[in-house]
Amino acid sequence: MTPRDPSRLAVFVSGTGRHLQNLCRLEAEGSFGAKVVLCISNKPGVGALEHASNAGVPSLVMEPTPGEGTEAYGRRAFDAVRASGAGTVVLAGFLKHLWIPDDYRGHVLNIHPSLLPAFGGKGYYGSRVHRAVLERGCQVTGCTVHLVDEVYDNGPILLQRWCAVEPDDTADTLADKVFQEELLALPEGIRRFLAQ
Ligand code: GAR
Repeated sequence: MTPRDPSRLAVFVSGTGRHLQNLCRLEAEGSFGAKVVLCISNKPGVGALEHASNAGVPSLVMEPTPGEGTEAYGRRAFDAVRASGAGTVVLAGFLKHLWIPDDYRGHVLNIHPSLLPAFGGKGYYGSRVHRAVLERGCQVTGCTVHLVDEVYDNGPILLQRWCAVEPDDTADTLADKVFQEELLALPEGIRRFLAQ
């Protein structure tokens, strides 16, 4: 088993994996200060797995098995994290609640496409967040990098970046604007966390 190192990252994904791609790009440029050593996807066939493969990052598809509870899934996933030597776990578009074992509490980060605690929790992901922001008439939105605790989209905030909501914004334009902020926020949030 590889010794555990905080700058070794296990990245959990569920979808397109633009964050994973961005982290691997920064790592390749030598400007990141962390290394992605494992990608875990709870879904097969997603774009993130292709980005992992292109970057030479080992990946695992871990679908929940029938009847498997959240804790059993978490134990299985963190066994793989432990074996990789990753000291820090990054949820980068991982759309499943993750149970965290004691030895990784305080070492799991998440990025969410809203200014938490607004528009977080169950049902708030992807374009649903941006539609809710527009429906509520918010004038500002953004993204949050936070430490993960046992409550979904909860936990101490490490960093937020924000942008204006303009009158002609749609859920799509807002998603694009917020994602540009996310691309800066996640690496910076990880750097700050590792520097603590
Ligand atoms: C990102 O916008 C991220 O903030 C969001 O999923 C997207 C993943 O994009 N996460 C959540 O909504 C978590 N609640 P990606 O797969 O292209 O990196």
